[in-house]
Amino acid sequence: MIFDRIKPLDAILATAEKKSLHRSLGAFQLMLFGIGCIIGTGIFVLTAAGAQKAGPGLMLAFVIAGAVCIVAALCYAEIASMIPVAGSAYTYTYATMGEFLAWTVGWALVLEYAIAASAVSVGWSGYFTGTILNDTFGIALPPWLTAGPLALGGAPGGLINLPALIIALLVTWLLMIGTSESAKVNAVLVLVKVTALTLFIGLTLTSGEFDSARFNPFLPAGVFGGWGTGVGAVGAAATIFFAYVGFDAVSTAAEETKNPQRNVPIGLIGSLLFCTVFYILVAAGAIGTIGGQPIMGPGGVPFPAGSEELARQCAMPQYADALVCSNEALAHVLREIGFGAIGNMLGYAAILALPSVILVLLFAQTRIFFVMSRDGLLPDGLSKVHPKWKTPYVVTAITGILVAIGAAFFPVGQLADIANAGTLYAFLMVAVAVMVLRRTDGGRPRSFRVPGVWIVAPLTVAGCLFLFLNLPAAAMLMLPIWSVIGIVIYFAYSRSRSHLGKGVVEVVDAIGGSEHDFPIDTPSRPD
Ligand code: ALA
Repeated sequence: MIFDRIKPLDAILATAEKKSLHRSLGAFQLMLFGIGCIIGTGIFVLTAAGAQKAGPGLMLAFVIAGAVCIVAALCYAEIASMIPVAGSAYTYTYATMGEFLAWTVGWALVLEYAIAASAVSVGWSGYFTGTILNDTFGIALPPWLTAGPLALGGAPGGLINLPALIIALLVTWLLMIGTSESAKVNAVLVLVKVTALTLFIGLTLTSGEFDSARFNPFLPAGVFGGWGTGVGAVGAAATIFFAYVGFDAVSTAAEETKNPQRNVPIGLIGSLLFCTVFYILVAAGAIGTIGGQPIMGPGGVPFPAGSEELARQCAMPQYADALVCSNEALAHVLREIGFGAIGNMLGYAAILALPSVILVLLFAQTRIFFVMSRDGLLPDGLSKVHPKWKTPYVVTAITGILVAIGAAFFPVGQLADIANAGTLYAFLMVAVAVMVLRRTDGGRPRSFRVPGVWIVAPLTVAGCLFLFLNLPAAAMLMLPIWSVIGIVIYFAYSRSRSHLGKGVVEVVDAIGGSEHDFPIDTPSRPD
């Protein structure tokens, strides 16, 4: 039987109880926390890829992806309020559907967190190269140092994305030495990001350049661009879904929340709604001022974002100013409409704030590996905790190096699509876990219950499947390929070493006695 080995929920809850953190977070703090994790490369950079896929239909894409995230968030809210321990979707699955499926979720979360961290690093590199090096210091790095090779979807003349590699390694180092971000720093960074986006929206929507004619045709690539093509409004939705990834981190704060029944869903849904509205307005401002029609290939189908063909087109002078070709989409729009200095300020805001998104993603990844290793499914050595730093430095270093390699050689759009594939699988499994727990353990108290769960959870499953099926074929394929590798490792190594398989029930919820469950250190932690 491969669907056995379900981790007993009582053991998990006993661990959570022992920790019993003081409940002090309100809805507003949760929202700040959520927005800090959510706003990043997705809106600052992938707006360009989204426009290449859908044109002005990018606005519709933000609505579709936001809607899927909102129903998924409700499921996260219920399960996190019931099983408030580390490991997120992996732990939830372990407690409901057993070790094998939990392993596949943990394995897929590598795509969510590690690959997403690579994607955000590449996004950061675009702004660093454009705003700091080019615009501020007039330094033009040679193309071979600013993008991966064309053969991997990079730019012509590209070889390695050095700034992306460096930022990923730098953040890894910070995590290894135990850096956590204070709630105050998070609040400041949220303010920086939101101010930058507000300025962007205000300036673009009121600009003399704004012309509603630019929204026509609204759906140049249609709603459904075709199976595996990744274009059209739903293709764009599947890509810019990335702009919402990270909200699931909020659920980890469930046990520290006052009145979680009310505040966890408000925090999750509130931060998502807030970002959805901002994203739609940003898309409207960008497209309304400089236009966002895709560069069409043969047969009137947009060239795939991140493809060699598009990179060649973008190298031509007539597309030098196109939104869809920019590596720093939002700063580029402001420069184009005459707000060069504010464009640069927006660039600085991105440069300042994106590393904290990388930090959160990388931390989440190391935590998942750590928990899997403590469960016996990954080698013990990975969960070694540094005596002085009190961090799982081995797993952090390995993860960070892999993230840096991904960032150095692959383009942001491809990385984001692969991250989305893994994330959608994890979200889907969380929705299934919520339904399973309602059936198997319906009487157990939950501080939040999804209203209309038999509609919301199936909608989440359907929404995740729908977005997954609209990813570009290569990204879609990555999930089964990655899963097969994972399954081979599970049966060759992990299954026989599993602690639960040997009858040991161990629930880990703190690293080396550290109180930091999350890199954003909430004010409620007992001193
Ligand atoms: N949602 C995060 C971002 O867009 C991952 O960077």
